[in-house]
Amino acid sequence: MKKIPIPMSLQKKTLCDSSQYEALYKQSVDDPEGFWNEQAEQLAWFKKWDRTFHFDFHKAEVKWFTGGKINVCYNCLDRHIESKGDKTAIIWEDDSGKLTKKYSYKEVLIEVSKIANILKRNGLKKGDRVAIYMGMIPELAFATLACARIGVVHSIIFGGFSYEAINTRVKDSDCKMVITASHSKRAGKTINLKAIVDKGLEGIDFIEKVLVVKHGENVPMQKGRDVWLHEELELVGVECEAELLDSEDPLFILYTSGSTGKPKGVVHTQAGYILYTSLTHKYVFDLREDDIYFCAADLGWITGHSYIIYGPLANGTTTVMFESTPTYPHAGRYWEMVEKYKITSLYTAPTAIRALLKEGDEHVKKFDRSSLRILGTVGEPINYDAWMWYYQVVGNENCAIVDTWWQTETGGVMIAPLPGAIEAKPGSAAKPFFGIQPCLVDAEGRELAGDSEVTGNLCIKHSWPSQMRTVYGDHERFKETYFTKFPGMFYTGDGAKRDADGYYWIIGRNDDVLNVAGHRLGTSEVESSVIKSAKVVECAVVGKAHEVKGESIFVFAILRPNLSESHEEIKQHIRRHVKDTLSPIAMPDGILFVSDLPKTRSGKIMRRILRKIAGGEQKDFGDITTLADPAVA
Ligand code: PRX
Repeated sequence: MKKIPIPMSLQKKTLCDSSQYEALYKQSVDDPEGFWNEQAEQLAWFKKWDRTFHFDFHKAEVKWFTGGKINVCYNCLDRHIESKGDKTAIIWEDDSGKLTKKYSYKEVLIEVSKIANILKRNGLKKGDRVAIYMGMIPELAFATLACARIGVVHSIIFGGFSYEAINTRVKDSDCKMVITASHSKRAGKTINLKAIVDKGLEGIDFIEKVLVVKHGENVPMQKGRDVWLHEELELVGVECEAELLDSEDPLFILYTSGSTGKPKGVVHTQAGYILYTSLTHKYVFDLREDDIYFCAADLGWITGHSYIIYGPLANGTTTVMFESTPTYPHAGRYWEMVEKYKITSLYTAPTAIRALLKEGDEHVKKFDRSSLRILGTVGEPINYDAWMWYYQVVGNENCAIVDTWWQTETGGVMIAPLPGAIEAKPGSAAKPFFGIQPCLVDAEGRELAGDSEVTGNLCIKHSWPSQMRTVYGDHERFKETYFTKFPGMFYTGDGAKRDADGYYWIIGRNDDVLNVAGHRLGTSEVESSVIKSAKVVECAVVGKAHEVKGESIFVFAILRPNLSESHEEIKQHIRRHVKDTLSPIAMPDGILFVSDLPKTRSGKIMRRILRKIAGGEQKDFGDITTLADPAVA
């Protein structure tokens, strides 16, 4: 694959060129302690750390900057007030596109401090857990930072999830409070979030308060439990001191899907996380003081945590928050925003790029995109056509395309072509970031070394500051999932290829995790939702290649006997059930009723075969009699 030369507009003008990248990378690997000590000086500390890192992958132990005292919110806001208090921290655009709100660093600090005071007033203290469930409104960012300010551990639940997701997450981390909004708005639709929260909290008696942002009409409030944010704001002061926290105190929990069981509560801690997200944000987006940076992800996913709020604000950047979707009310929405706010850096997902590519170039070319310099992508492999369209049509061949590979577990970008330093190859995430030591291993865990092209399981050999620390409440699961298959290494669950130039090409998950439109979903989560629809006795969920979404959901299900409805009615019922209880993004595209599922002798479903059938590659299980409806396959 040919390399795309660094665009002329960026040559010799970026933070780092190829020789600086090589030198810094070498230092970060040869002397990790020295490298990270130097980098950590960039943060504001209440007390310096005693030990840079300590990790033992055999024991699943990871610690960074122990002995240090720090506050992440202080690093994102307070320390900028003197030099750039009036600089815009957050630009927010609403769903309709008619309303923009801008908040300076000073204003964000006030809003955050007020909410922090409300949390304290309502009995929250350091270490307590709070679930946050709302759409992309400024209060979501403020509430998140307010938790960080007082050492309360936030667990943001993506606003597109349904009530069962709230129920399981709130229970798993024993939250004391839920912060939500009356409604969310997306693409002209209004969703009553508060009603979903009420249903999600049914049967839970340990939630003390539900704090509600009014974003739309009034909603019913439960006496003694529910409080309006706007009423509480009248009762609190505008100052709230940032809590002194240990480097390794938890900052947040973010649930993510695995191949088995319920979603895992990925725990990230303070100092290492904020150091790594801010450093990667700086280099991956080749940050400049006057950048207008737009990450189009949702705050409910790790991309939103690390690269809408934490990394950018720690760097004193102007970050854009967007309530809507890329195609509402028209397919030029992103580019209209680029023109309106003079956006310099855009970070989105291949699924959005593919959806926009299909709409035609005229929606892009209508708007002035000359402010753009960096175009990022994340969440799934980007195909050649989408990459080239992003580069040629959106970026006019003037922008660096940064394909960033990372995960909820890694906290920040691990592999990416740094602008100006690494020439891109379309479809490759290229080279590791400073301090990251990726390797490929075969099924027996033997490292595939050397300069020739190799394909294997992607592992990481050395800890990095924003590595997840544990699975909330289940350290054994942390150890089992990431450190057992290949002892002494962190296993990412992905398969990858390394070419002769040392570039990494991510192939995709090696486990049963689905990636639907950049959203990570576990087969087991979808299967359990399908079962709860009460129409099937057993089912298996697999991913099927999809032109825009990357992967779509395909269900093989064994029906309950004696159902009176038609197959079509049952399929509708199952789809609706998954949408209402789990999430619209988890709705199956294809459902096939079968009389049996192919299993190994030990009873494990042979998904490999099912994937082939769903993809139309194989027309039977070998034994076609097991299919109830073979014609559909
Ligand atoms: O399979 C990889 C894919 O997304 C997975 C992580 O999903 P999640 O934890 O939800 O985080 C997504 C946002 C960081 C990975 O295991 N993935 C992520 N980025 C890329 C990718 N696959 C290919 N190329 C990427 N750039």
